[in-house]
Amino acid sequence: MTRNRPTVWVDCDPGHDDVVAILLASHFCDLVGISTVAGNAPQSATTKNALITAQLFDLDVAVHAGADRPLVQASVFAPDIHGASGLAGPVLPELVRVVTPGHGVTALLEASQRHRDLWLVPTGPLTNIALALRMDPTLASRISGVSLMGGGPTFGNKTPWAEFNIWADPEAAAIVFGCGAPLIMCGLNITHEVLVSLEAAAAMRSSAPGSRGEFLADVLAHFATAYKDVFFTEALGPLHDPCAVLALTHPELFTFVDSHVEIELNGRHTRGMTVVDQRGVKGALAPNVSVAMAIDGPATVALILDTLRGLAALGP
Ligand code: RIB
Ligand code: CA
Repeated sequence: MTRNRPTVWVDCDPGHDDVVAILLASHFCDLVGISTVAGNAPQSATTKNALITAQLFDLDVAVHAGADRPLVQASVFAPDIHGASGLAGPVLPELVRVVTPGHGVTALLEASQRHRDLWLVPTGPLTNIALALRMDPTLASRISGVSLMGGGPTFGNKTPWAEFNIWADPEAAAIVFGCGAPLIMCGLNITHEVLVSLEAAAAMRSSAPGSRGEFLADVLAHFATAYKDVFFTEALGPLHDPCAVLALTHPELFTFVDSHVEIELNGRHTRGMTVVDQRGVKGALAPNVSVAMAIDGPATVALILDTLRGLAALGP
């Protein structure tokens, strides 16, 4: 089976699950660039974490620093899950890799001119994507689409109704969801099915020795433990961000439903909610998003862990 190898640009806020998304994109896609955004941690931290990931796994890809704050509201980070550094848990190596000059949005736009089939894969707040769409109104018609981790049709995490990536910059999300480009939304309804356990982290440590295996084991273990401390009754980490990559490379793992999705901006309780028309009737609003409504969670976790083990084995 010849598998699609899409050309992608990852815009991220590493973040434990962003790290996994970057690695999967480097393996399954033609990863032409990375931009960072404030989200899980300040942009300076998410940029450092993206550089560390590229350095540790010897990725031949430039990292550009993007927006350091949302379009309108004040920055809010997620230290409860990711730590103040954005990548708590592993002992991080001395950073040698340097950020590539040029704002992440400018670099993304330049890449979209070089690669006319580019998929944008945002795994953090959508600030950079929104800025790119405003800087170049032709972007939406030039790219293959946007495959994002964010939102969801049923529940939130930052609030009962809003997921963090959307909630952190709702105005940016509204621009993206209204841009007219093909959109894929991988929301919490499916990412909470892609769960990594402490046992899986331990198996990574034993099966993938070396610095890369240790790093990955610590990333996964911290993420699973943090979710027990903050959200779940068990130490299980939902690998949100890799889903946005796998939606492009392994669509057979997903069930998608084309739906109309808007971003709530004004609700006193529901600001940042992705409002999805799920009526499925003739009068339904015109679809603008391919919403992931189901996923084979165990198969997806197995694929992710197998891929990470393989990448770790290639290193020191
Ligand atoms: O709500 C989950 C999302 O918020 C993920 O992208 C995670 O990395 C955080 O950014
Ligand atoms: Ca993220």
